[in-house]
Amino acid sequence: MTESQIASFDDWMHESVKHIEWVANDLLPKTGREPRRLIGAMRYAVLGGGKRIRALLCYAAGVVSGAQQADLDRAALALELVHAYSLVHDDMPSMDNDTLRRGKPTVHVQYGEATAMLAGDALQTEAFTVLTGMNHSVAVARLCGTLARAAGVRGMCGGQALDLAMVGGHPGEGELLMMQAMKTGALIQAAVLMGAQAGDWDRLGDGARGGLAAYADALGVAFQVVDDILDCTQDTATLGKTAGKDEKDDKPTWVSLLGLESARARARELHDRANAALALVAADPAVPEGAILRLQQIADYVIARSH
Ligand code: IPE
Ligand code: IPE
Ligand code: MG
Ligand code: MG
Ligand code: MG
Repeated sequence: MTESQIASFDDWMHESVKHIEWVANDLLPKTGREPRRLIGAMRYAVLGGGKRIRALLCYAAGVVSGAQQADLDRAALALELVHAYSLVHDDMPSMDNDTLRRGKPTVHVQYGEATAMLAGDALQTEAFTVLTGMNHSVAVARLCGTLARAAGVRGMCGGQALDLAMVGGHPGEGELLMMQAMKTGALIQAAVLMGAQAGDWDRLGDGARGGLAAYADALGVAFQVVDDILDCTQDTATLGKTAGKDEKDDKPTWVSLLGLESARARARELHDRANAALALVAADPAVPEGAILRLQQIADYVIARSH
């Protein structure tokens, strides 16, 4: 493919977001059947919004290992389902108590708490059901393991528990880093690894595997640092969720710990670290030329985003 035939990042992102929306609509339980309310809440939580960054990372990493589109679709959807579940529960009154998400009332506001709790639970298990439908059976166990580890007590759930325990507290940088690497970084890392694991993972050398993990590790924390910055620099309409919520709730963030300018500098440092790690991926002889392009562009986007 010549330089001019490669789609711009904006076009690629736009097409990929449209595509994962289509995949989600197709594979999620259909409306009009029982349990209607629960299915309605699941679809409401997943469809029609979100940046789809985890799906994008999965697609981009799949290029590195030559993964098939149909397998990547299932891996990307599974990630978005676990992510959507994490948001539904994160917004509930017993957690962050938020009423707006992706520009719409949160699931518990729209459907009630009991249905929101069940929708989160069912989205999580649905993610694994989706993975088991992959064509590439060797990869299924690996992907299920990667997603389960990232979502569980050593990953997202554990990080959410630490986040809640820190409310009103004054953690050090190390503690804040660990909490964020778990609550947000773990699923971002899973997105990159699952994309690569959906393809010929066994052919990748230690350089590529380690480079992908290091890229995702830095990018995952960068993503949350930017989330913390946006919470106090953007308005509710732009974010699609209530602005200024972290300060109001006395949540320790990079901004409360370091101040805005140092938090921005930290995000840039992490971005540079993510890109440096990609050089290791590109240097692996098993990785096709140009295969890291979208991963590089996603790192740029994560830092520059406005919502
Ligand atoms: C929000 O995630 C929660 C965090 C982990 C910071 P996103 O910013 O990816 O949310 P959507 O999917 O785009 O709505
Ligand atoms: C949430 O972090 C991380 C999750 C695992 C959902 P936040 O609580 O900062 O996410 P937002 O700001 O509500 O999207
Ligand atoms: Mg939270
Ligand atoms: Mg929240
Ligand atoms: Mg936040």
